[in-house]
Amino acid sequence: MCHIPVLLNEVLYYLAPSSGDNIIDATFGYGGHTSAILNECSDCIVLGIDRDPNVISRANQIKSIYNERFNFIHGRFSEVLSELDCKYNKILFDFGVSSMQLDTPERGFSFSKSGNIDMRMSQEGKSAYDVINSMSQEDLAEIIWKYGDETKSRKIAKAIVEYRTQKLIETTEELRNIIHNTITKKQSNIDVATKTFQAIRIYVNDELNEINKALNSLSNVLVNNSIIVTISFHSLEDRIVKYWAQNNTNIIKINNNIINPSNEEIKNNPRARSAILRAFRYVISD
Ligand SMILES: C[S@@+](CC[C@H](N)C(=O)[O-])C[C@H]1O[C@@H](n2cnc3c(N)ncnc32)[C@H](O)[C@@H]1O
Repeated sequence: MCHIPVLLNEVLYYLAPSSGDNIIDATFGYGGHTSAILNECSDCIVLGIDRDPNVISRANQIKSIYNERFNFIHGRFSEVLSELDCKYNKILFDFGVSSMQLDTPERGFSFSKSGNIDMRMSQEGKSAYDVINSMSQEDLAEIIWKYGDETKSRKIAKAIVEYRTQKLIETTEELRNIIHNTITKKQSNIDVATKTFQAIRIYVNDELNEINKALNSLSNVLVNNSIIVTISFHSLEDRIVKYWAQNNTNIIKINNNIINPSNEEIKNNPRARSAILRAFRYVISD
């Protein structure tokens, strides 16, 4: 089980790994971007960060190949970036979830294979099970609307709360069925449960706050003229990146237009379809 790195050529183009670079891969995952960066130049250094304990064994594998050129820190990028005391000149964020997380039914991220509903990247703290089974109807509706952009959020929240008066919701399949029985299927390839699952996942992992905090702590780790590359997968993530760049005088856009995957990439890796890449330069003003 692995993860195909998204927009790999574009990431390498904008990061342009070169001799002496100190690069952070803030979302290590399966290390696809990290390995490509390390292969691109023989003496750049990469620090990988990921909050998912399941990727530690993969990080150890990469460490055994690249030795002192690669290090890994397990933790949330918002915390790690604000605590690091070394300086770096390039950083990559490839937000969202990995294919390993989505495709492991026991992690409870996806409705395509049933598993206990969980969705925690860090595997600690409140899970989707806790949220779905204990949150008030109003709060559920708010989350599903706010983080899923789901116009039927009130109906879905009502159905969830009614269902759990009979029985707790334990599996991703159960939640999907509740949504399917509540709202009509659209004539599209996208499952009607997608937005609700996205919303609960974002809430459980506090994903948007993580992005906000991480972007705002970059001055702690970056040197003058550093390059920042972000890959977002939906408008909520991308909006945070866009506003942060617009409102930060130290940030200069490198690419005026957003970069999306080619049709060929989407054909080979449909999960890349909504990816949006932005590249920036961090400049310390006098
Ligand atoms: C899209 S995957 C990255 C895939 C990676 N670029 C590759 O090529 O294999 C996103 C990864 O970021 C991690 N992640 C998401 N939010 C995080 C956060 N706040 N702190 C640390 N890691 C995070 C997830 O656990 C997941 O492994």
